[in-house]
Amino acid sequence: MQRHAQVYPSKKTSGYDVGRVRADFPILKREINGRPLVYLDNAATSQKPVQVIEALDRFYNQYNANVYRGVYRISEEATVAYEDARRKIAQLINAKDPSEIIFVRGTTEAINLAAHSWGRSNIGLGDSIMLTEMEHHSNIVPWQQLAREKGASLKYVGITEEGQLLRQDVRQHLEEGTVKLFAVTHVSNVLGTINPIRELVREAHKHGCKILVDGAQSVPHMPIDVQDLDCDFLAFSGHKMCGPTGIGVLYGKRELLQHMEPYQSGGEMIREVHLYEATFKDPPFKFEAGTTDIAGAIGLGAAVDYLSKLGLRNVRDHEREITKYALEALGEVKSLKMYGPTDPETRGGVASFNLADVHAHDMASMLDEDGVAVRSGHHCAQPLMERLGVAATTRASVYLYTTKEEIDRLVASVERAGRVFKI
Ligand SMILES: Cc1ncc(COP(=O)(O)O)c(C=O)c1O
Repeated sequence: MQRHAQVYPSKKTSGYDVGRVRADFPILKREINGRPLVYLDNAATSQKPVQVIEALDRFYNQYNANVYRGVYRISEEATVAYEDARRKIAQLINAKDPSEIIFVRGTTEAINLAAHSWGRSNIGLGDSIMLTEMEHHSNIVPWQQLAREKGASLKYVGITEEGQLLRQDVRQHLEEGTVKLFAVTHVSNVLGTINPIRELVREAHKHGCKILVDGAQSVPHMPIDVQDLDCDFLAFSGHKMCGPTGIGVLYGKRELLQHMEPYQSGGEMIREVHLYEATFKDPPFKFEAGTTDIAGAIGLGAAVDYLSKLGLRNVRDHEREITKYALEALGEVKSLKMYGPTDPETRGGVASFNLADVHAHDMASMLDEDGVAVRSGHHCAQPLMERLGVAATTRASVYLYTTKEEIDRLVASVERAGRVFKI
């Protein structure tokens, strides 16, 4: 099959100029085996625009200092930039107040913080925690640990053949009356399914159940409004949204954060320390023990500026169009099985597939020969792999700089693999 994208990368589509966006990402100029890199592992981590790289460079070159601790100029500058980043993130997700934004290392640490600080005081013997079969390990294992420690149980929401949540499972589990927390991904990192968070929050709250949303695959890709969603917690990672590695966010409603115990202790999170006791600061500082990733937070602030300038509605529209194109193109490949919803309206920019019985790792290595970077394996979602009845999938995931021409390169390479493996 020979497909040709008509407009990318040079022309604009509905005002979004992907060619200009791509010029901001130095790494996209790289060649692999003599061909331009096609980076389609964005669900694992995104590339960084020059604006973010320069913000990190400026921090280290011009005002590197610890925050809060110095009364001298560059420490004050670092503190202002760090708190500015918090404010920008609060604005991005429409939090009521910047104090609802806690800096952590990433989604995994954000969920661990919630499990530790909220979970240990609010989950007890006989309670249950509701999860879904499509969760990433980071939104399963911390809850398994908590349940084991507290004598609580886990309840799973199943999925349909297309990869949508079984809403009757949600209802049934909630009606049993023991579920204290529902931890659910906004967008599946394997299936691409976009879950109806607002409806799920409403349902959970009716039963007095709190809800934590894993936003690792949604916050980077679409407008998010935590007040509108009304979720209690939202976890996400900076490195998947044009920011640096090592920084992420736990958003929590202020009234919950205020009553939570610290996650780690020591350093700047204290109000007063005496020989045998200590008191703690208010959120978010209570949860940011020691020297945090100051550069990372400032870099994430620059990434938020970048995304806000592009407009997350435009990013979502662009990705929807690219995803539609990819689903159609991959759908035409002989013997290729795709996973997840077929309607691009209800899915994010993740396309998981298997070609006949070609192992996903062999497929990914073959694509790499052509300069196409995709992920293969269980994608940290082993329970989902079991549910799908596969050991692994190959996953191509798009972002704000992906073009239709890159999707053509992916499809041509998958077809070449098919020929090599005699499918
Ligand atoms: C849905 C989902 N949750 C959690 C994570 C974990 O993110 P991190 O490794 O940044 O903590 C990922 C990463 O791939 C993810 O896709």
